[in-house]
Amino acid sequence: MFTLRDLFFKHVAQTSNNSLSFTVSFAKNEFIYDQNNNPYLDCISGIAVSNVGHNNPYVVNAIKKQADLFLHTMVYGEHIQQPQVLLAKKLSDLTHNQLHQVYFLNSGAEAVDAAIKLARKFTNRKQIIACRNSYHGSTIGAMSLMSNYEYYSAYGPFLQDIDFIEFNNIDSLNKITQQTAAVIIELIQGEAGYIPIQNEFLIALHETCKIHHCLLIFDEIQTGIGRTGKFFAFEHFNIVPDVLLLAKALGGGLPLSAIMAKEHVLSAFKDNPPLGHLTTFGGNPLSCAASLAAIEFIETHDILKNVQDKEKLFFKLLANHSDKKIRGLGLMLAIQLNSDTTVQKIIAYCFEKGLLLDWFLFNPSAIRIAPPLTINTEQITFLCQILNEALNLHGY
Ligand SMILES: Cc1ncc(COP(=O)(O)O)c(C=O)c1O
Repeated sequence: MFTLRDLFFKHVAQTSNNSLSFTVSFAKNEFIYDQNNNPYLDCISGIAVSNVGHNNPYVVNAIKKQADLFLHTMVYGEHIQQPQVLLAKKLSDLTHNQLHQVYFLNSGAEAVDAAIKLARKFTNRKQIIACRNSYHGSTIGAMSLMSNYEYYSAYGPFLQDIDFIEFNNIDSLNKITQQTAAVIIELIQGEAGYIPIQNEFLIALHETCKIHHCLLIFDEIQTGIGRTGKFFAFEHFNIVPDVLLLAKALGGGLPLSAIMAKEHVLSAFKDNPPLGHLTTFGGNPLSCAASLAAIEFIETHDILKNVQDKEKLFFKLLANHSDKKIRGLGLMLAIQLNSDTTVQKIIAYCFEKGLLLDWFLFNPSAIRIAPPLTINTEQITFLCQILNEALNLHGY
């Protein structure tokens, strides 16, 4: 008789030889429960998706209501379906109508790929500039924007006319020229270990893009939907991009991504030739209904103000010292240590005590903390207590 675990290893493709292989029986609010119904505090939100908690009742009710009406019709601007239209209007309102049109897709990488196409068509230029150490996804287009040789080298050839600048290095902005179609950037570099962008760098980048008439694309796939304490991370900096990419938490737990821009930019997909970007499921009614409910939950429960208070509590309880640095914004926090193996040991110790934590693809000597935004004071205190215990055990 095969166990679920046996079948998992036999039939579900693995992406590493050391899968966590944690069996999930159900998830509720801030917790994921294992096969024996033991609760684990979700400290990473899988990853940065479950911002409003697992199976948030607002979201689940909205999904159920929509499931009774219809599951699927044509989604890419052909049929008028209420959840998609209302969500597009809501997202536009949240940008104060500065980015008033939305093209919906399914995943982050797909939005990145579509944004590359959009920038090239809109500007009639080819070059896309990304930052070293950024992660924009795993499709061939998104992976073309990856600078980490170890991860991409087996999968080329990639898109042509890609170049890289250094994150937070104003001198490297001279790579942006009249040939550049777009610069794509994360406001907190995710897989590099939650490194926030510096204000002066962002101002200089914005100016440079304006001078050369190229598009500035913010990849807010991880930072969006309240993760940093503002609905969009760009609100911390008062700089609105030409194109904004959202995914992960956007769908309230269901797959959904979006490209937001002004109409004259997004209409590049509309003609010469028409139907420039298509999707069968992007912006499907279930995901859009779930997304609207998640956004309304954030608005009606004062979640954003609370995120800022919770960030302060984390910084207070996980004090910085010479061997350990805490950084990040809102509930997108990293503890920088100086050893990969210690990070793995700390994550394993915390797992034994009921915490689900993680590391970073391009920074394995840092610990990732990105819990549901609904995490409460008591849970934060517990998380920090166990983490401090583990850190102390390893000399931090
Ligand atoms: C900043 C950023 N962009 C893009 C992606 C890719 O999103 P997806 O995994 O939905 O394709 C991710 C995923 O981690 C991300 O963090």
